[in-house]
Amino acid sequence: MNVVEQTVKQEQMLKGSDFEQPTELVRQNTTIVEDIKRPHNQKPELPPEEMGKKLPLKEPPPNMPNVWVYDGEAYDLSDFIKQHPGGEFFIGRMKNRDITTLINIFHPNPEKNKKMLKKYALGRRALPEDVHPKYAAPEFLFRKGFDGWKDTPKFNFDSQDQLLNQIKIRLNKPEMKKKIAQMDFMFDGVTIILGIVYILVEVLRLNFTQYMPVYLFVPLMVVLRISLAGAGHYFIHRAQVRLNKIFAQIFDISYVPMAFVVTDGHALMHHPYTQSEVDIKRNVFTAMLDLPRYYRIPVHTVHKLAHILTGMFVRAIEISMLGFKFGVKDLYGSWQGSLPHYIGLFGMRILLVSELILFCLHGDFGAWFAQFVLTLWLSTFMIVASHDFEAEVELETRVNHKEEKDWAVFQIQNTYDLTMIGNKYVDCFLSAGLSPHRVHHVLPYQRSGFANVISEDIVREEAEKFNVVWEQPKNFFIDRLPILTKHYLFSPSRMAKEKNFGLWKEHFHPHELQKAVKYIMQGFAGIGSI
Ligand code: HEM
Repeated sequence: MNVVEQTVKQEQMLKGSDFEQPTELVRQNTTIVEDIKRPHNQKPELPPEEMGKKLPLKEPPPNMPNVWVYDGEAYDLSDFIKQHPGGEFFIGRMKNRDITTLINIFHPNPEKNKKMLKKYALGRRALPEDVHPKYAAPEFLFRKGFDGWKDTPKFNFDSQDQLLNQIKIRLNKPEMKKKIAQMDFMFDGVTIILGIVYILVEVLRLNFTQYMPVYLFVPLMVVLRISLAGAGHYFIHRAQVRLNKIFAQIFDISYVPMAFVVTDGHALMHHPYTQSEVDIKRNVFTAMLDLPRYYRIPVHTVHKLAHILTGMFVRAIEISMLGFKFGVKDLYGSWQGSLPHYIGLFGMRILLVSELILFCLHGDFGAWFAQFVLTLWLSTFMIVASHDFEAEVELETRVNHKEEKDWAVFQIQNTYDLTMIGNKYVDCFLSAGLSPHRVHHVLPYQRSGFANVISEDIVREEAEKFNVVWEQPKNFFIDRLPILTKHYLFSPSRMAKEKNFGLWKEHFHPHELQKAVKYIMQGFAGIGSI
């Protein structure tokens, strides 16, 4: 049977079966989207009640075929889930999605991976029904009418003379590979030291307070938490195998993300499709913009405190149940494969809440709270600091991926490097992994910030050959924080903007007050966590 005949047969099978159009199934399943009204091309904005709701593993529509799409062809990777050296999760989560960009950007030598892929070919072109219209993610993360089949950006990775290939040719030379491996090793060494210091600082503060005064404890904890989250940022990009399934969760130690869900939204959606409609990172903190401006700091802080107390437990249970019910085998190949992910997920929640309880028992809630607030807000701003997420420019005028041919050129042009104190080896920790951020975006499979630092010259030199202007890094405190503070903390609430409220009415209108109370309560229920 030739490819055309197979395709026709497959189409007939799909039509003849009780398989329904995915869009229709999602419409039936969804509980949250219908009331979000916005123009077709407008950036989706998440009202607080939608923010983070059912974020991780939305119930997949029944009967989605076992298909992964590469370059318009259909593949069945079900048998490969357990064998993937990069871990079961990455393959499992990409079912019913287009894996073309990910194969090319997440492997040092994609030609090898493409050859392996052939074994799993279904011998037919992919069909719209093969692709989940909303990435099997919560529908509200996308604009109304978004369709994964049509709207996933396409890049051409075939031509050898594109930037990514030129960079990899130099990085894959044995001496460079050796240096990179050494750097990964040193990075892990520093991470272990940071972990030990973190424990020591807490032990000293709790038991020998005279050696750890509050003015030392608070900044140290902020720096340590952000740095450990920086290490965690790299761990979620690494192969999700063995102990890394647990270690990846240290990303959450800065109180903001949940690695368990971010691995998908960040590694599989933000990185390949930066600044496109698939890039859900654009939307993560827009919920707070719904609040009156001067309530944002206190209300969001209490909302996040509620996450630590109960919200993240609720979410962890909710996503585990969904995972168990609908996809452990699909996602992880087996129960055993999934277990370390869940141990890490709950272990981190227990750690964060235990610390809070311990500090309260020692009568030291004030010190804990001070480090919590500072870590929370610095991390929140850092997450949005390394792209132009705050720019209110319509997506369609801003980014036309269809015309963009060279993926790596696009990454460099749409990403900033952040500096914190100016030393790259320190900054890659202090910036929570966002320095050097351009290299990280071009080479998301690299395992550490140090590897990125030593790869920077190669990336810059090759980029310059493609006439890409290598902009100076931006300083987080000087160049980004003031702009972000203005946008996230001082812009009027949505309602105030729409109804032209003055400052007084913005803060005391009954609806605005109600929203603030609701936002806090949602924290306890785990709504709004990423
Ligand atoms: C679906 C999207 C995929 C993602 C996000 C992904 C991600 C990854 C990651 C993060 C690693 C670890 C890289 C490292 O530590 O250097 C890896 C390794 C690997 N992956 Fe994938 N992978 C995907 C699909 C595939 C497919 C379809 C194949 C082959 C059929 C494949 C074959 C491999 C191999 C052989 C390795 C070991 C490193 C290498 O030799 O390239 N991957 N993958």
